[in-house]
Amino acid sequence: MNLFQNIQSYLLIIILLFFFVNCQNIPKPRYLQTSSLIGNRLYFFGGDFSTTDSSNFSAGNITNEVWYLDLSSSFNTATPPWNKDVGMPIGYFLGASCVSPIDHSVFLVGGMMFIQNTANINLGSWPVYVFNSNISLWTTPNIIGFNSSFKMRNGIQPVIDNYGKIYTFGGTNYTGNLSSFVLYNDMSILDTTSMTWSTLAISINGLLYYTATLLPNGIIVYIGGLISRSVILYELNSMYEIQTFNTKNYNWSTKVASGASIGSRTGHSAVLTQNGDIIIYGGLWNDTHTPATPYIAKLDTSSWMWSIPNVSQINSPQLSYHSAVLYGDYMIMAFGQILSMSSISYSVLSNSLYILDIKNYTWITLFNPNQSTSNQTPPSDNHLHNDLFIGIGIGAGIVLLGVFSVVGFLLYKRKKQNQYPKFIPTPGTTDRINMMK
Ligand SMILES: *[C@@H]1O[C@H](CO)[C@@H](O)[C@H](O)[C@H]1NC(C)=O
Ligand SMILES: *[C@@H]1O[C@H](CO)[C@@H](O)[C@H](O)[C@H]1NC(C)=O
Ligand SMILES: *[C@@H]1O[C@H](CO)[C@@H](O)[C@H](O)[C@H]1NC(C)=O
Ligand SMILES: *[C@@H]1O[C@H](CO)[C@@H](O)[C@H](O)[C@H]1NC(C)=O
Ligand SMILES: *[C@@H]1O[C@H](CO)[C@@H](O)[C@H](O)[C@H]1NC(C)=O
Ligand SMILES: *[C@@H]1O[C@H](CO)[C@@H](O)[C@H](O)[C@H]1NC(C)=O
Repeated sequence: MNLFQNIQSYLLIIILLFFFVNCQNIPKPRYLQTSSLIGNRLYFFGGDFSTTDSSNFSAGNITNEVWYLDLSSSFNTATPPWNKDVGMPIGYFLGASCVSPIDHSVFLVGGMMFIQNTANINLGSWPVYVFNSNISLWTTPNIIGFNSSFKMRNGIQPVIDNYGKIYTFGGTNYTGNLSSFVLYNDMSILDTTSMTWSTLAISINGLLYYTATLLPNGIIVYIGGLISRSVILYELNSMYEIQTFNTKNYNWSTKVASGASIGSRTGHSAVLTQNGDIIIYGGLWNDTHTPATPYIAKLDTSSWMWSIPNVSQINSPQLSYHSAVLYGDYMIMAFGQILSMSSISYSVLSNSLYILDIKNYTWITLFNPNQSTSNQTPPSDNHLHNDLFIGIGIGAGIVLLGVFSVVGFLLYKRKKQNQYPKFIPTPGTTDRINMMK
């Protein structure tokens, strides 16, 4: 070999090494992960890598990976500064994470835990995992009075209040077997300061695959998803009858919303703005991966009026089962299923980052933390509430929704379609799984 050839091979090796190292630092596309903002770090936990048949429970490839983005410095959305953290003891998806306002530890509550990279449910797994991001340590706490009916609970979106109480409503224990599941309408409360569990029995319709957003006044707003009509019967939830739970007096009430025409959906995300608006994004409304319309909508939580922000359609991602967080005026979306390219049998998954500046509803490609915060002060009455608003309101806006309810109605519809070949699914179709037999 002459010198020139040597230089060429060295260059090749360097280039290959560079690519290798680079690829190591880019997370694979995934969906159904959960995410939380801890200080300036945006964390992503778990998810499913599987691109084949999203209706087939056994085809999942559930990861234990933990990734985070440091939001304290600028970056381009094409090259986010990804960091990989210590993995979880289990593969995890279909759950949600809450950040304690007290010591910023992360609580993974419910969801499904798997032996990594398989879809073998680890039935013995504990329903709550705690992550200390200071030292990258996962632990399983002892919970006093844990209600074993909560085991395998999924399709839920727990939220944590500023006193460290986690509220988890409804959900299902569906694990892929349509002849063995129930829907719940109870409210479980985990007080993370004493690690005690309590269950409120509540006579309101259960919800699953909804988003839950805690307002500064202590009211949790449940949007979208599926509403249960019995322990095994559900339908798409109305966007105009919104169930709310008051964490101060444990009362439920249904708010009647009006305004713009907003389609029902599951697999969407929700974030709370400093003005008290909830912005929902993405999701789908049926089993054929049709994007929900409009894909972005805003709910004013004082007037309960829906409106549709004027967002440039160009480069607008149509995502479901993604993560969304509000950081200042930046709504950051990551991962998820790209609906326009997915079908029942094949999912195209994303590992992209999308940032919407909600000051003017434009997509931006340069993340600049100094420009991300507006001067508006949150509409809250004391410091504690400010913390809640910024820390928890944003954290609670992160969504993780389940694919398996869609699976549930998918399987049912397939069966129904076989029986009635002309059946065309329409929004608002009631899916009576109990009639399957
Ligand atoms: C579901 O996925 C598993 C694992 O990939 C496969 O063995 C099985 O045949 C699939 N079932 C159906 C109904 O497609
Ligand atoms: C699951 O994903 C991992 C990581 O990409 C991959 O190595 C593995 O082959 C996948 N397993 C299956 C069954 O597809
Ligand atoms: C992490 O470190 C911060 C700052 O030192 C501290 O306030 C917090 O309590 C720590 N969190 C945990 C879970 O140890
Ligand atoms: C599904 O649940 C039914 C009723 O509990 C049970 O008989 C059946 O064996 C289960 N099927 C699978 C594949 O686990
Ligand atoms: C769900 O709960 C019902 C009622 O307790 C039980 O019969 C069923 O076996 C459970 N299914 C799973 C998958 O745990
Ligand atoms: C446990 O949860 C179930 C289901 O919501 C409920 O019926 C039961 O009363 C709860 N048990 C206790 C001790 O709260």
